[in-house]
Amino acid sequence: MKFGIILGSTREGRVSPQVGEYIKKIADGHSVHEFEIVDVKDYDLPFLGTGTPNEAWNKKIDELDGYVFVVQEYNHGMSASLKNALDSAREEWFNKAAGIVSYGSGGGIRAAEQLRMVLGEQKVADVRTNPAFNLFTDFENFSTFNPGAHMEAGVSDMLTELIEWSTAFDTIREKVIA
Ligand SMILES: Cc1cc2nc3c(=O)[nH]c(=O)nc-3n(C[C@H](O)[C@H](O)[C@H](O)COP(=O)(O)O)c2cc1C
Repeated sequence: MKFGIILGSTREGRVSPQVGEYIKKIADGHSVHEFEIVDVKDYDLPFLGTGTPNEAWNKKIDELDGYVFVVQEYNHGMSASLKNALDSAREEWFNKAAGIVSYGSGGGIRAAEQLRMVLGEQKVADVRTNPAFNLFTDFENFSTFNPGAHMEAGVSDMLTELIEWSTAFDTIREKVIA
Protein backbone atom coordinates (compact mmCIF):
# COMPACT_ATOMS: atom_id res chain seq x y z
CA MET A 1 0.00 0.00 0.00
CA LYS A 2 1.00 3.59 -0.54
CA PHE A 3 0.44 6.27 2.11
CA GLY A 4 0.69 10.04 1.97
CA ILE A 5 2.14 12.08 4.81
CA ILE A 6 0.17 15.27 4.30
CA LEU A 7 1.82 18.53 5.37
CA GLY A 8 -1.00 20.89 6.29
CA SER A 9 0.79 24.21 6.70
CA THR A 10 2.00 26.50 3.93
CA ARG A 11 3.33 29.62 5.72
CA GLU A 12 6.90 30.92 5.35
CA GLY A 13 9.00 29.48 8.17
CA ARG A 14 6.66 26.55 8.81
CA VAL A 15 7.99 23.54 10.69
CA SER A 16 5.74 20.89 9.10
CA PRO A 17 8.43 19.64 6.65
CA GLN A 18 10.66 18.70 9.60
CA VAL A 19 7.83 16.85 11.32
CA GLY A 20 6.88 15.11 8.06
CA GLU A 21 10.47 13.93 7.44
CA TYR A 22 10.67 12.57 10.99
CA ILE A 23 7.45 10.59 10.46
CA LYS A 24 8.65 9.34 7.07
CA LYS A 25 11.93 8.11 8.53
CA ILE A 26 10.12 6.05 11.16
CA ALA A 27 7.51 4.86 8.63
CA ASP A 28 10.16 3.73 6.14
CA GLY A 29 11.62 1.41 8.77
CA HIS A 30 8.27 0.27 10.10
CA SER A 31 6.83 -1.93 7.34
CA VAL A 32 7.05 -2.86 3.67
CA HIS A 33 4.54 -0.16 2.77
CA GLU A 34 5.45 3.00 0.91
CA PHE A 35 5.21 6.48 2.46
CA GLU A 36 5.60 9.75 0.59
CA ILE A 37 5.42 13.36 1.67
CA VAL A 38 2.43 15.15 0.15
CA ASP A 39 2.93 18.86 0.64
CA VAL A 40 -0.22 20.98 0.34
CA LYS A 41 2.03 23.91 -0.56
CA ASP A 42 3.24 22.16 -3.74
CA TYR A 43 -0.31 22.07 -5.12
CA ASP A 44 -0.96 25.80 -4.77
CA LEU A 45 -4.66 25.10 -4.23
CA PRO A 46 -7.02 28.04 -4.75
CA PHE A 47 -9.50 28.67 -1.97
CA LEU A 48 -12.45 26.53 -2.90
CA GLY A 49 -14.51 28.14 -5.63
CA THR A 50 -12.14 31.06 -6.26
CA GLY A 51 -9.93 29.67 -9.01
CA THR A 52 -9.20 26.72 -11.23
CA PRO A 53 -9.14 23.53 -9.14
CA ASN A 54 -5.85 21.65 -9.26
CA GLU A 55 -6.74 18.20 -10.58
CA ALA A 56 -3.31 16.91 -9.59
CA TRP A 57 -4.43 17.22 -5.95
CA ASN A 58 -7.52 15.06 -6.49
CA LYS A 59 -5.47 12.52 -8.44
CA LYS A 60 -2.89 12.27 -5.67
CA ILE A 61 -5.52 11.88 -2.92
CA ASP A 62 -7.27 9.23 -5.00
CA GLU A 63 -4.16 7.12 -5.67
CA LEU A 64 -3.16 6.90 -2.01
CA ASP A 65 -4.39 4.02 0.18
CA GLY A 66 -4.29 6.03 3.40
CA TYR A 67 -2.88 9.13 5.04
CA VAL A 68 -0.90 10.53 7.92
CA PHE A 69 -2.01 14.10 8.56
CA VAL A 70 0.59 16.46 9.97
CA VAL A 71 -1.68 19.04 11.59
CA GLN A 72 -0.64 22.25 13.32
CA GLU A 73 -2.77 24.32 15.69
CA TYR A 74 -3.73 27.82 14.55
CA ASN A 75 -6.16 29.71 16.81
CA HIS A 76 -7.43 26.51 18.42
CA GLY A 77 -8.16 24.82 15.11
CA MET A 78 -6.41 23.33 12.10
CA SER A 79 -4.71 25.59 9.57
CA ALA A 80 -6.96 27.07 6.87
CA SER A 81 -4.65 25.59 4.24
CA LEU A 82 -5.32 22.07 5.50
CA LYS A 83 -9.08 22.62 5.75
CA ASN A 84 -9.11 23.97 2.21
CA ALA A 85 -7.11 20.97 1.01
CA LEU A 86 -9.62 18.66 2.68
CA ASP A 87 -12.54 20.51 1.08
CA SER A 88 -10.87 20.49 -2.34
CA ALA A 89 -11.47 16.75 -2.85
CA ARG A 90 -14.47 14.55 -2.09
CA GLU A 91 -14.85 10.92 -3.24
CA GLU A 92 -11.06 10.67 -3.50
CA TRP A 93 -10.91 10.56 0.33
CA PHE A 94 -13.67 7.98 0.81
CA ASN A 95 -13.11 4.65 2.57
CA LYS A 96 -9.53 5.26 3.61
CA ALA A 97 -7.89 5.30 7.05
CA ALA A 98 -5.70 8.02 8.53
CA GLY A 99 -3.34 8.67 11.38
CA ILE A 100 -2.99 12.13 12.91
CA VAL A 101 0.26 13.74 14.10
CA SER A 102 -0.23 17.14 15.70
CA TYR A 103 1.82 19.93 17.23
CA GLY A 104 1.27 23.20 19.03
CA SER A 105 1.85 24.74 22.44
CA GLY A 106 -0.43 22.10 23.93
CA GLY A 107 0.40 19.34 21.44
CA GLY A 108 -2.03 20.64 18.84
CA ILE A 109 -4.76 18.50 20.38
CA ARG A 110 -7.59 20.92 19.58
CA ALA A 111 -6.59 20.98 15.91
CA ALA A 112 -6.32 17.17 15.89
CA GLU A 113 -9.81 16.78 17.39
CA GLN A 114 -11.23 19.27 14.92
CA LEU A 115 -9.61 17.31 12.10
CA ARG A 116 -11.28 14.10 13.34
CA MET A 117 -14.68 15.81 13.04
CA VAL A 118 -13.99 16.81 9.43
CA LEU A 119 -12.57 13.40 8.48
CA GLY A 120 -15.81 11.76 9.58
CA GLU A 121 -17.65 13.69 6.90
CA GLN A 122 -15.05 12.72 4.30
CA LYS A 123 -15.47 9.01 5.15
CA VAL A 124 -11.92 8.76 6.46
CA ALA A 125 -11.48 6.59 9.57
CA ASP A 126 -8.92 8.12 11.92
CA VAL A 127 -7.01 5.76 14.21
CA ARG A 128 -6.78 6.27 17.95
CA THR A 129 -3.10 6.97 18.60
CA ASN A 130 -2.24 10.63 17.99
CA PRO A 131 1.43 11.49 18.52
CA ALA A 132 1.24 15.08 19.81
CA PHE A 133 4.36 17.25 19.84
CA ASN A 134 4.76 20.20 22.14
CA LEU A 135 6.31 23.43 20.86
CA PHE A 136 8.01 23.99 24.25
CA THR A 137 9.60 20.56 24.70
CA ASP A 138 9.87 18.89 21.29
CA PHE A 139 11.27 21.94 19.44
CA GLU A 140 14.25 24.22 20.05
CA ASN A 141 13.31 27.91 19.81
CA PHE A 142 9.91 26.79 18.49
CA SER A 143 11.57 26.18 15.15
CA THR A 144 13.94 23.19 15.20
CA PHE A 145 12.18 19.89 15.67
CA ASN A 146 14.05 17.72 18.17
CA PRO A 147 11.69 15.29 19.90
CA GLY A 148 12.85 12.84 22.53
CA ALA A 149 13.39 9.21 21.54
CA HIS A 150 10.41 8.24 23.71
CA MET A 151 8.06 9.80 21.12
CA GLU A 152 8.91 7.15 18.53
CA ALA A 153 6.81 4.45 20.23
CA GLY A 154 3.63 6.50 19.74
CA VAL A 155 4.44 7.09 16.08
CA SER A 156 5.01 3.39 15.63
CA ASP A 157 1.69 2.52 17.32
CA MET A 158 -0.12 5.02 15.09
CA LEU A 159 1.47 3.46 11.97
CA THR A 160 0.51 -0.07 13.05
CA GLU A 161 -3.12 1.02 13.57
CA LEU A 162 -3.11 2.85 10.23
CA ILE A 163 -1.82 -0.17 8.32
CA GLU A 164 -4.30 -2.53 10.03
CA TRP A 165 -7.30 -0.36 9.21
CA SER A 166 -6.06 0.43 5.71
CA THR A 167 -5.75 -3.29 5.00
CA ALA A 168 -9.39 -3.74 6.04
CA PHE A 169 -10.54 -0.72 4.00
CA ASP A 170 -8.82 -2.13 0.94
CA THR A 171 -11.48 -4.85 0.90
CA ILE A 172 -14.30 -2.29 1.17
CA ARG A 173 -12.86 -0.21 -1.67
CA GLU A 174 -12.64 -3.27 -3.90
CA LYS A 175 -16.32 -4.04 -3.17
CA VAL A 176 -17.37 -0.44 -3.85
CA ILE A 177 -15.49 -0.42 -7.17
CA ALA A 178 -16.98 -3.83 -8.14
C1 LIG B 1 -1.94 32.30 13.16
C2 LIG B 1 -1.38 31.40 14.22
C3 LIG B 1 -2.16 31.03 15.29
C4 LIG B 1 -1.67 30.14 16.26
N1 LIG B 1 -2.49 29.74 17.26
C5 LIG B 1 -2.08 28.73 18.07
C6 LIG B 1 -2.98 28.17 19.02
O1 LIG B 1 -4.13 28.54 19.13
N2 LIG B 1 -2.53 27.16 19.78
C7 LIG B 1 -1.26 26.66 19.67
O2 LIG B 1 -0.93 25.72 20.37
N3 LIG B 1 -0.37 27.21 18.81
C8 LIG B 1 -0.76 28.22 18.01
N4 LIG B 1 0.11 28.76 17.09
C9 LIG B 1 1.49 28.27 17.06
C10 LIG B 1 1.66 27.21 15.95
O3 LIG B 1 1.10 25.99 16.35
C11 LIG B 1 3.14 27.07 15.63
O4 LIG B 1 3.62 28.30 15.13
C12 LIG B 1 3.40 25.98 14.64
O5 LIG B 1 4.78 25.93 14.35
C13 LIG B 1 2.62 26.22 13.36
O6 LIG B 1 2.88 25.23 12.41
P1 LIG B 1 3.77 25.54 11.12
O7 LIG B 1 5.12 26.03 11.63
O8 LIG B 1 3.89 24.24 10.40
O9 LIG B 1 3.06 26.60 10.34
C14 LIG B 1 -0.35 29.66 16.14
C15 LIG B 1 0.45 30.07 15.06
C16 LIG B 1 -0.06 30.91 14.10
C17 LIG B 1 0.80 31.28 12.92
